[in-house]
Amino acid sequence: MSAALLIKHLVKQFGTGKPAVDDVNFEVPAGEIVVLLGPSGCGKTTTLRCVAGLEHPTGGRISIGGRVVSEPQRGVLVSPRERDIGMVFQSYAVWPHMTVRQNVAYPLKHRRSGGGDIDAKVRETLELVGLGEYADRSATLLSGGQMQRVALARSLVYRPQLLLLDEPLSNLDAKLRIRLRDELRRILKATGMTGLYVTHDQAEAVVLGDRIGVMRNGKLLQMAPPGEIYNRPADSFVANFTGASNFLLGKVLERKGETVTIDLGAPGRIEAWTPQSLAAGDTARVALRAENIRLGERGPVNAFTGKVVDRRYQGMQTVYDVEFGGQKLEVLELGTAARHQPGEVALTLPPDTCWAYRDEGQAAVE
Ligand SMILES: Nc1ncnc2c1ncn2[C@@H]1O[C@H](COP(=O)(O)OP(=O)(O)O)[C@@H](O)[C@H]1O
Ligand SMILES: [Mg+2]
Repeated sequence: MSAALLIKHLVKQFGTGKPAVDDVNFEVPAGEIVVLLGPSGCGKTTTLRCVAGLEHPTGGRISIGGRVVSEPQRGVLVSPRERDIGMVFQSYAVWPHMTVRQNVAYPLKHRRSGGGDIDAKVRETLELVGLGEYADRSATLLSGGQMQRVALARSLVYRPQLLLLDEPLSNLDAKLRIRLRDELRRILKATGMTGLYVTHDQAEAVVLGDRIGVMRNGKLLQMAPPGEIYNRPADSFVANFTGASNFLLGKVLERKGETVTIDLGAPGRIEAWTPQSLAAGDTARVALRAENIRLGERGPVNAFTGKVVDRRYQGMQTVYDVEFGGQKLEVLELGTAARHQPGEVALTLPPDTCWAYRDEGQAAVE
């Protein structure tokens, strides 16, 4: 039975200095997949290892299926093997001296669960991960992608109440990574398993996650469905990490609800959305995704004139460098035709796609 995971005020501190995990709070409802996304060193693996029981948290509470498995303040710490968790890592944890079938059957035999229907469970799980025809092959004869499927099958076969995955696709080549990524979502959803998945790859996070949690420096910055992370990023780091590469500097003129009017200087005024407490007089950075800027269009709001100074045709898309009142914009046009020439160009920045944040300097963006 898959179970909900609840994490409250989780802190993990190694030695002195800044905690690796710093007051993290989130929930994974039963059957849902949550992806923790963030740059290397932000605390993803440490969070996962705390859930697994491989790391001893410094503070906070972790519950799985309503049972508290870790709460240092009350001296609660359930051992990893009593947590009923499946784990898949970046490295292929496959026994080379066994066949595929033996690898997958091992956890069942080890647990002495299921008795007679071990064969049926193994067969069913191998089918699920697409290895039905490889059951009797020696594990040493498998490709990286197949080995990772074996590792996955071995974690799924005993139906743990929670599955933890730490960058399981990182060692695969690009093409295979994309294929297995798409398939992984199907497999996990077919089992109805609760999953916590960790990655630094935004594309992986979007495809796999019912919700994505973006982490930075041990903090969880935002937890939301992929569409919300991509269209309503909570701060400039989330915007930038998920691909908003343009930032325009300006001054807030006025605010109405979540809409702010910003003076960009030479180009004039722009309307933008903000999730933050920006007020008139504040300096703001407006984040924009390259693919959300409309070249050659004069919309009803936020319409300007810019100048194409360079364009790079990439076959399926074209990247334009556009000069815009002393600031620079990168614009992406999808499609196999490059429609705009160097020189003057109309451009529209749809207000819904302009996100204003407090100016915390370049460091906030990296
Ligand atoms: N066993 C450890 N001892 C000391 N510091 C650690 C240990 N494990 C991780 N860290 C530190 O904790 C921080 C978070 O690491 P980690 O959770 O592995 O990040 P991520 O998985 O996001 O790349 C890093 O600064 C890392 O150096
Ligand atoms: Mg890691």
